[in-house]
Amino acid sequence: AQVDKGNHRHFMEKEIYEQPEVVSHTLAHYLDFTAGKVRGIASEIDFSSVEALKIAACGTAYYAGQIGKYWLERYARLPVEIDVASEFRYREMPLPGNQAALFVSQSGETADTLASLRYCKEHGLKIGSIVNVPESTIARESDVVFPILAGPEIGVASTKAFTCQLATFAALTIAAGRARGTLIADEETNMVRALSEVPRIASSVLNQIQPPLETLSRDLARYHHVLYLGRGTNYTLAMEGALKLKEISYIHAEGYAAGELKHGPIALIDENMPVIVIAPSDRHFEKTVSNMQEVAARGGRIIFVTDEKGAAASDLETMATIVLPDVDELLMPLIFSLPIQLIAYYTAVFMGTDVDQPRNLAKSVTVE
Ligand code: G6P
Repeated sequence: AQVDKGNHRHFMEKEIYEQPEVVSHTLAHYLDFTAGKVRGIASEIDFSSVEALKIAACGTAYYAGQIGKYWLERYARLPVEIDVASEFRYREMPLPGNQAALFVSQSGETADTLASLRYCKEHGLKIGSIVNVPESTIARESDVVFPILAGPEIGVASTKAFTCQLATFAALTIAAGRARGTLIADEETNMVRALSEVPRIASSVLNQIQPPLETLSRDLARYHHVLYLGRGTNYTLAMEGALKLKEISYIHAEGYAAGELKHGPIALIDENMPVIVIAPSDRHFEKTVSNMQEVAARGGRIIFVTDEKGAAASDLETMATIVLPDVDELLMPLIFSLPIQLIAYYTAVFMGTDVDQPRNLAKSVTVE
């Protein structure tokens, strides 16, 4: 069936606003909310016997994989190595012991991701894929397919596929934690219950942050460079935010681990480079706030993306402070993706670019 934009100006906007609904489908596919348990389908890789996991992907799918790595390592104590597929396929890495590999791809057709999959297959690894297109080549060549059920994504810049990939990784993390004995039954239930709240929270966030983000984006559209900072999974969101902004607004943007600020990017700080600091009140909050102070002390303009607790805990002067509700730490990447996507979207709209078909980019990169 033909997909249309409905009441939206662009497919990207439609896909951003669709997220509460599509993420709820993904979560319901992998989680049994009534029982407070992950479903069997999330355990089709035998996580209890796997010693390590490899992940390869490109673009936004790579960033979803990086958040997956942080979760799988922290909650399931599973060692994970991730690389961009164009590097992964040529590194000639040894693959000893009992390892599995996961490939993340919206289209399921990205050439480098497919080549990485084939490398692991030749080495006898169990192959899983997290894909949006179930009849794609990557899905067909996998032993286990984890569909993300996002529906067709038309905008070149990936949005709903990203959050549905995250929802899938969250479920796999719980399954792996259970199989490996690192999560006890209560913890599983708490995580499943917390995730069941994502669609409701996401939809209220989308309604509430639109006006402040439109104002902010009108200002951002005047700058030529933007730096994003974060720690932990917010480091990944910093890179994903910078990717989105450069792809569709053509403003130069970089995402950095906040702890690396001192090792380079601090030299660039002046009033001409806004710094978007993604810092909800998680266990990294104080460290990130001290980086933010370093930026402020050098005349940098700060856009502080935080939660209610975080906003109350800092009195730094900012160019804008975007306040989201306080949520469970596991949910933060799913919820904080939304302002990150909308900042890029509105800025591109103010710049007047071709948001759904940005110059030089393709939805799916099927050649090297
Ligand atoms: C292209 C698209 C991105 C996407 C990446 C990986 O660069 O423009 O939106 O994240 O490819 O695509 P895949 O289909 O493998 O997720």
